[in-house]
Amino acid sequence: MIKKIEHLGIAVQDIEASNALFEKLLNTSPYKNEVVEREGVLTSFFQVGESKIELLQAIHEDSPIAKYLEKNKQGIHHIAFDVDDIYAEMSRLEKEGFVLLSPEPKPGADGKMIVFLHPKSTNGVLIELCQDAQR
Ligand code: CO
Repeated sequence: MIKKIEHLGIAVQDIEASNALFEKLLNTSPYKNEVVEREGVLTSFFQVGESKIELLQAIHEDSPIAKYLEKNKQGIHHIAFDVDDIYAEMSRLEKEGFVLLSPEPKPGADGKMIVFLHPKSTNGVLIELCQDAQR
């Protein structure tokens, strides 16, 4: 089951400058900064009610965020849905014709197991499914 929008991912050029901007906007500090080596990103997270904002900056040129920012301006990069059973949702969505970007969930930032859906199957929107890894 898809439970809620867990976070919105925003691709940024300069996470320090963006942290300062979102601190002013949301009137709160990021509760976490975390490097995810395998995704080539530095992230920061802001809590907004029951959802979050995730800022993403590339840490090297091969990062998906670096590639995204070669073609796009800074802005909303993905929508992440909180799911109660990531394997069940992957199987359900694959049967519905959505294209998964990896056959297995991967460890993501903020203690989650994550998988992405290819934007070609979702009206151009990169979608992440995430589930708490501890459960
Ligand atoms: Co995300």
